[in-house]
Amino acid sequence: MKTPTRSPTHEDVELSRLSSMGLELEDIVDNERVTIPAMTELAEDRGRPVSHYLAAAALQELRVAETGPLTVRVCAGTCQRWGALDLLDHLAERWHKTKTFTIAPVSCLDRCDLAPACEIHGAHGQLVLAPATKQSLDDALASLAD
Ligand code: FES
Repeated sequence: MKTPTRSPTHEDVELSRLSSMGLELEDIVDNERVTIPAMTELAEDRGRPVSHYLAAAALQELRVAETGPLTVRVCAGTCQRWGALDLLDHLAERWHKTKTFTIAPVSCLDRCDLAPACEIHGAHGQLVLAPATKQSLDDALASLAD
């Protein structure tokens, strides 16, 4: 797997921890899906960032309930070392304000050398943001929502 030539900027969550968080998610699976509000509540209860549960959901290949016309696929795999968890926390916060998009965490988007990688899918087709930033996600979501 290729990785960016830039050094990692973040620590990733250990796989064993993500696996046990994945088991916690089983309690909130509804109709084979998890919702962002339920995940946020669980994360607050456990005192962990919601991004960790989103990364755990990616590992378990759990589907996040769909909301709105846009889907943001976010790599929560090795891209964690280049800030993917920050992007997921940011997206979860934005989701609570607008609820106009679905957050779909995945284990890899095959753009590992351009980490952190995201794709926004919708009627426009696919917009790739790699490397993505909070700002580029905000700008893209705002313009695609119009
Ligand atoms: S690890 Fe492959 S795109 Fe993130």
